[in-house]
Amino acid sequence: MKNTEFHKIKVKNIQQSTKDCVIVEFDIPNTLKEKFQFKAGQYLTLRKELNGEEVRRSYSLCSSPNDNSWQVGIKEIEGGKFSTFANQQLKVGDTLEAMVPNGSFTLPTDKNNKKNYIAFAAGSGITPIVSLIKTQLAEEPNATFKLFYTNKTVGSIILKEELEALKNNHMERFEIFYFLTKEKRNIPFLNGRIDDEKLETIYSTICDPENIDEVLSCGPQEMIFKVRDYLLNTGFPKDKIHFELFTTDGTAHKKQAEKLKKTFKGKTSNITILEGGKSFNFEMEQGSNNILDEALINSADLPFACKGGVCATCKCKLIEGDVNMLLSYGLEDEEVEAGYILSCQSIPTTDKIIIDFDV
Ligand SMILES: Cc1cc2nc3c(=O)[nH]c(=O)nc-3n(C[C@H](O)[C@H](O)[C@H](O)COP(=O)(O)OP(=O)(O)OC[C@H]3O[C@@H](n4cnc5c(N)ncnc54)[C@H](O)[C@@H]3O)c2cc1C
Ligand code: FES
Repeated sequence: MKNTEFHKIKVKNIQQSTKDCVIVEFDIPNTLKEKFQFKAGQYLTLRKELNGEEVRRSYSLCSSPNDNSWQVGIKEIEGGKFSTFANQQLKVGDTLEAMVPNGSFTLPTDKNNKKNYIAFAAGSGITPIVSLIKTQLAEEPNATFKLFYTNKTVGSIILKEELEALKNNHMERFEIFYFLTKEKRNIPFLNGRIDDEKLETIYSTICDPENIDEVLSCGPQEMIFKVRDYLLNTGFPKDKIHFELFTTDGTAHKKQAEKLKKTFKGKTSNITILEGGKSFNFEMEQGSNNILDEALINSADLPFACKGGVCATCKCKLIEGDVNMLLSYGLEDEEVEAGYILSCQSIPTTDKIIIDFDV
């Protein structure tokens, strides 16, 4: 059964990682510890009422499941509702609401593995990557990691101390390459964003593509897709490329949504939602809106967070009918093939739809 419940958790500690990023640690009560167990790479969805509006945002856990600690890193975005609140007003002892950890940007661990991992991160995208690096290095004694991490300046490197400590503890197995976009350094390769030329250098001189087992990336969409496309062009297997998107630009999909509105105007869709062992029914115009928003307007209580097609909190299964899914970044290819959809991105295009959240 899908867990839509929010739990009250207290802020235990707040550390300033950089000028505009705080590391927030939560005090998870003993009664919730089992529910809040997580895998490295997963995130918490936090909820808070700000200026009379309910705001939900997801933050990747940057601690490792082995730390018995729940920490997230929140980078302030100019004008951003939650991130500005977290950086400027949140205090130790405050209470927030959180859903249990979720997400599929995870890796299995096996102490017998001898895997070589490489990771690309930029800015706040380091948060799930740090958790994964820490966990794989601890649980796979033969694993190696190379991290390519881009920031604007040395002062803006989030979790730098944590990374340096990890490097010192695993000298033989963990290497970091810091790239800076707004500060010049003597080695030209380390100046500027990850582009095709840098990827070429990485794969020809730093990593042997034959010996890379898994690739992780988290940061801006542009970087993630550059890394993915470069690797796919070299024939690297798609299922070994793992990424986590925090946001998308979404512009192309707005046009698609407008087109659907016109095509299906005037046709009705009868929607049945199975959730928590109950069934919920309503009608909406085909092509007019996504199923999640329309269900919320009709007072349904459904799980969601980003509403942007990236977090997969709103994942459910299409049992009957058809939808047009604008974005599906939060789903694996196999999930799409198996009929899973993101309800926040799914526009109904048939007169009857049944979706199931209890799967
Ligand atoms: C699975 C997942 C994990 C995440 N983990 C983290 C994390 O560990 N640390 C973290 O800081 N954030 C993380 N995020 C992003 C986070 O959920 C929020 O989107 C972000 O903090 C902005 O929220 P806000 O309310 O401050 O801004 P909003 O008020 O929602 O947005 C303000 C503006 O900023 C843009 N924007 C939103 N996010 C970003 C971004 N990351 N970079 C640039 N512009 C942006 C929006 O499009 C909007 O135009 C994660 C998101 C997802 C889906
Ligand atoms: S709510 Fe995040 S993908 Fe739908």
